Amino acid sequence: MLTKQFNISRRRFLKTSAVVAAGSSLPAWFIEETRSYAAATKPLSPNDKPNIALIGCGGQGRYDTTLAAKFANVIAVCDVDGKHADAASKQFGGAKAYKDFRKVLERDDIHAIINGTPDHWHTLVNIAALKAGKDVYSEKPLTLTIDEGRRLVAIVKETGRILQTGSQQRSDARFRLACELVRSDRLGKLKHVITSLPDGPRKGPFSAVPVPTELDWDFWQGQTPSVQYVRERCHGSFRYWWHYSGGTMTDWGAHHNDIALWGLGLERSGPVAIEGKPLEEMIPGGFTAASEYRVNYTYANGVTQTCQSTSGNGPDGSVRGTPRPGEIPHGVKFEGTAGWIFVTRGKIEASKPELLTEPLPSNAARLYVSNDHMGNFFDCIRSRKPPICEAEIGHRSVSICHLGVMAIRLKRKLKWDPDKEQFVNDGEADKWLARPQRKPYTYDLA
Ligand SMILES: NC(=O)c1ccc[n+]([C@@H]2O[C@H](COP(=O)([O-])OP(=O)(O)OC[C@H]3O[C@@H](n4cnc5c(N)ncnc54)[C@H](O)[C@@H]3O)[C@@H](O)[C@H]2O)c1
Repeated sequence: MLTKQFNISRRRFLKTSAVVAAGSSLPAWFIEETRSYAAATKPLSPNDKPNIALIGCGGQGRYDTTLAAKFANVIAVCDVDGKHADAASKQFGGAKAYKDFRKVLERDDIHAIINGTPDHWHTLVNIAALKAGKDVYSEKPLTLTIDEGRRLVAIVKETGRILQTGSQQRSDARFRLACELVRSDRLGKLKHVITSLPDGPRKGPFSAVPVPTELDWDFWQGQTPSVQYVRERCHGSFRYWWHYSGGTMTDWGAHHNDIALWGLGLERSGPVAIEGKPLEEMIPGGFTAASEYRVNYTYANGVTQTCQSTSGNGPDGSVRGTPRPGEIPHGVKFEGTAGWIFVTRGKIEASKPELLTEPLPSNAARLYVSNDHMGNFFDCIRSRKPPICEAEIGHRSVSICHLGVMAIRLKRKLKWDPDKEQFVNDGEADKWLARPQRKPYTYDLA
């Protein structure tokens, strides 16, 4: 249980509020608050490696941190599960172990964090870290709601910190090539995009069991409704519950729908209409996020997209069965008047070889090049330039997945205004843009 409440930015604000900038049209409290965000972290000298902390020491957080350790000193690890924190501390040379991420963020010798928490914790940790003057590598899907994304993007702008989203397919040359070709009209007029994601598991019912002694279950649940501990709700499989995530729609959609938007050139925008449905009801008492689903999107330029789950691949991307009729393998397919290009991890193919083999003309628009997603984050910590998957892009890539989840759950057509980031005359759907946050795990915590 979270015992001590405090608000990092507020506390710093009070500490420094005696100093007020004169001669500015901005209100003094605002200037002071913005300055105080970065004031507590020691500047990084050009020859020093940054110090980093891992928050959320599960499988992915620890994997990310092994990559980050090439560029940085790992000096702290944090998890609400003591066993995970201890294991990470051992793995990263005795880095100090914490349970409460706010204690980590108080340290002035930490320059950046790796956020490997489950999806429902990403935003509160990220906002608190940005306000504490830390740069952030955050796992995808970047947010739990569209409201979280809008707030996060605003805080990144306000603080001037670097935030890289862990949608690492952007740093894979095959995906970049596919998007450059599509954006250079190699397929003629682009008509349709298919993003094919793995089916999620359809399992249950599950029973409540005693909470393991090493786990702070209340803290783990955070902003989500408090329920009895069920092992399958927690480590690893949290992603198959609406409370904590959006199923494979957000888990894998944050990769493949990210690439769809990149190819469409709409990575800071989104669709104008969404229609979706689950293909199978879930088992009562079991995982809640739709395991099989289909969502159709329409963009303002007339291009359409289908995002479908497929039986052909497991949630880890491994091939586990034969795709159902009409399904394509797990990946992204761009279809135009002159042919198609399909791209997935480790493979790019086209309806005609020359669509790939013909070099792009010298005047073709080329895209941001990163061949190392984690390396790009550390380069940007030095250069202070936006990383390849900055906050706005991470937010929009998961927004399209959240919109799909809403369409699946509401089982009807939704009209979306991507500029205003609101539904069009649809009060029922607008309610889904944010979720009620359980106290004390609200935005005020950050
Ligand atoms: N980029 C990729 O390819 C990729 C691959 C796998 C997972 N991920 C993402 O990484 C994230 C973590 O996934 P995972 O599979 O490692 O999950 P996991 O359940 O194995 O690990 C999450 C860890 O965070 C801890 N945690 C929960 N709340 C916390 C809090 N408030 N403070 C500190 N620690 C907290 C949990 O106890 C657990 O140890 C997810 O968002 C997932 O989508 C990304």
